[in-house]
Amino acid sequence: MNPAVLQLPDLYRPIEADLARVVAIMDQELQSELPFVAQLCERVRGYRGKMLRPALLLLSGQSVAGVQSVLGGPAAGGVTSEHHTLAAVVELVHLATLVHDDVLDQAEERRRQATISSTNGNEAAVMLGDYLISHAFHLCSSLDSQSASRLVGHTTNVVCEGELMQIHSRGHFKLSEPDYIEIIRRKTAALTAACCRLGATHAGADETLASRLEVFGESAGIAFQIVDDILDVVGEQKKMGKTLGRDLELGKMTLPVIHYLREAPTDKQEAMLKKLASAEHDDRAHVAQQLTEFGSVAYATSVAEQHVSRAISMLEGLPESASRSSLLSMAEFIIQREN
Ligand code: IPE
Ligand code: IPE
Ligand code: MG
Ligand code: MG
Repeated sequence: MNPAVLQLPDLYRPIEADLARVVAIMDQELQSELPFVAQLCERVRGYRGKMLRPALLLLSGQSVAGVQSVLGGPAAGGVTSEHHTLAAVVELVHLATLVHDDVLDQAEERRRQATISSTNGNEAAVMLGDYLISHAFHLCSSLDSQSASRLVGHTTNVVCEGELMQIHSRGHFKLSEPDYIEIIRRKTAALTAACCRLGATHAGADETLASRLEVFGESAGIAFQIVDDILDVVGEQKKMGKTLGRDLELGKMTLPVIHYLREAPTDKQEAMLKKLASAEHDDRAHVAQQLTEFGSVAYATSVAEQHVSRAISMLEGLPESASRSSLLSMAEFIIQREN
């Protein structure tokens, strides 16, 4: 039997009203009296993605409600207006990384639309990314406590380190699996981990619970990027709504390729290395076929599944609730997703 197809709007049901509030906060934050800047803000506003990071933050906050501290302190509360602000902050950070990433990857399509870099040029895209990050911290500083700003700041440091590590290792075809995992842990999983920790701590969860949710977010984020990298080779651009194939073209090593170059017979490895060194647009289908036939796509999927299992195991201590079920389904969605 096929597992039920998971749809994000169903998983987001427990936080539907909260997400609407998050969108309103982002819209309010992204305003400028300068027409050219306002026009760019408008582009970003009409540019809604899956909203995974705000959803992780809000669901984490909701899922710990009522849980007693192990030290006997008061039970955790639920989602508050601070969560709405923080969820807008993490989505703004994510948006900034996407606008910058599309410069790095020379991508034409993002969220089913033309990228900012392709329509307005790299200079405007770099500054818009900075502007979005700046707004994220501006918004975050409106909270009473500084703890969230510290964590968000630490997280963006780690994300940038991950992107820099990736740039540094471009064309390094012998990149090891642990080094690849370290890159994606930083560039992608650091933010999803922070979302879950922020959601939990701001609902009053104790350190044990907050750490478990942080590991949930980190493991889910690692799995998410492995799947994203698989889809960059074998996915359909129409379904994904963004430019695919750039990892191969730009010499960015991903898990299926690492597996192939480690496990395939020498002649096949050499043929693949040759392709990678001169990667061109029309090589994607051929590389996808090689990686699929040799089992490298299946291998990468199995590693993503292990990270999803670890994520799900972190939810064990949480009471049964709609938000806990949604977190569990979001982890499963990561493997099933086609966009
Ligand atoms: C894309 O993230 C960037 C990666 C970390 C792979 P998403 O797939 O969550 O992007 P949106 O927000 O839905 O557009
Ligand atoms: C980017 O990874 C991850 C970020 C932190 C932005 P990708 O380059 O794989 O993201 P996509 O595929 O362009 O969304
Ligand atoms: Mg990219
Ligand atoms: Mg990608």
